[in-house]
Amino acid sequence: MNYLSINNIDNLSEWVNEAIEIKNNPLKYQDIGKNKTIGLLFFNNSLRTRLSTQKAAMNLGMEPIVMNFGSEGWALEFEDGTVMDQGKSEHVKEAAQVISQFCDVIAIRAFASLIDKEEDLAEEVLTAFAKYATVPVVNMESSVGHPLQALADAITLEENKTVHKPKVVLSWAPHPKALPHAVANSFIEMMQKQDVEFVITHPKGYELNPEVVKKSKVEYDQDKAFANADFIYTKNWSSFKDYGKVISQDKNWMITADKMEKTNNAKFMHCLPVRRNVVVADEVLDSENSIVIEQANNRTYAAQIVLKKILED
Ligand code: CP
Repeated sequence: MNYLSINNIDNLSEWVNEAIEIKNNPLKYQDIGKNKTIGLLFFNNSLRTRLSTQKAAMNLGMEPIVMNFGSEGWALEFEDGTVMDQGKSEHVKEAAQVISQFCDVIAIRAFASLIDKEEDLAEEVLTAFAKYATVPVVNMESSVGHPLQALADAITLEENKTVHKPKVVLSWAPHPKALPHAVANSFIEMMQKQDVEFVITHPKGYELNPEVVKKSKVEYDQDKAFANADFIYTKNWSSFKDYGKVISQDKNWMITADKMEKTNNAKFMHCLPVRRNVVVADEVLDSENSIVIEQANNRTYAAQIVLKKILED
């Protein structure tokens, strides 16, 4: 069993409820991964994903091996049949099979380049490892999705909702750098599987991949979107249409206390890391309604339920 996207979850409510049970007793399954090794391969930086996945593995008795592939590994070739006479030293075919001999599970983080849309949509690194590895593969954020984050978000929503069908708003916010679409994509896919009133709000030009958004409601007026919201989930992403470009840094989209006033006393969520007073004002991030720290804590239990399911498979 791989965990490449949230479509690998066979029973979402069961996984969320079991993750909450594990949170109450994190060491309940501390022997299930005994004598098993997980290799965490990072092609990009991380704080939460690295530590929470490592912690989750340790809670299950697994031994984690971490490799910062971007700076420590040989530069990998992904194309088949290529003449490797340039900068790439090793083909993913050998690398994935070799790592599979050392590890019982391989987890990979490889962000979008935000240069070549087709290449990013193909999820080159994750797909190649899933193809050539002989052990299960976990997505720790690929070019198009961040399913461990989305599962943690679902756990956080379940713990914090006060009405049966909450209104959840995904709001774009400004950022000086071009950021990937992965978190927003997986959050949208997760909300499409939940019993929620879901609205996406962003400036015109920031439409996400229509194959992800599907029939989810898009409201270009942020104030209208925020009305009566129970959860505000904020994330910046770069343009999908004008691929990888920052086409607006409109400060009026920053999440402020005034905007939160329009909601139904909404909880504030963000996957972190977040730029203070650019994406969200201090007054919101430091408020009682901000649940970002607990959201990050839930990354451990999201990873733990995923690894438990893989180990049981
Ligand atoms: N939210 C998230 O994936 O955080 P890191 O990039 O720090 O892992």
